Amino acid sequence: MSNLWNKSIEIGVDLIDEQHRELFERFDSLINAINMGEGSDKIEPLMGFLGEYVVTHFNDEEKLMDKAGYPEIDNHKILHHDFVKYFSDVSDKIVEDGVNDQIAHDVKKKLFDWLWTHIANEDKKIGRFIDLS
Ligand SMILES: [Fe+2]
Repeated sequence: MSNLWNKSIEIGVDLIDEQHRELFERFDSLINAINMGEGSDKIEPLMGFLGEYVVTHFNDEEKLMDKAGYPEIDNHKILHHDFVKYFSDVSDKIVEDGVNDQIAHDVKKKLFDWLWTHIANEDKKIGRFIDLS
């Protein structure tokens, strides 16, 4: 199991918690490759692997919010959309410039901070809403 993930960010919806764990697994593989100093030939496919899962996961989460009548769905969708945009910009940068220290740092920090903060704050709110309804 990824040591970046822990139970404190479970939202109480099995499908979503499972997907969050998988996200951190994939994120781990990417970070390990970056830390090993791998080049863009290894990093690009791992970004793709993570990015693909991010989209699947966001779609499932949005379906869940929709089904539950979650009142903050529109705002939450914007947060997802912005992240996908950031992720795709960083991926493009890696394709263009390769992996350098700055991108490596950026990816490690921003992706992790975003994922963690988003799940701990925004996704948890969905869990609480579903619990109450
Ligand atoms: Fe979310």
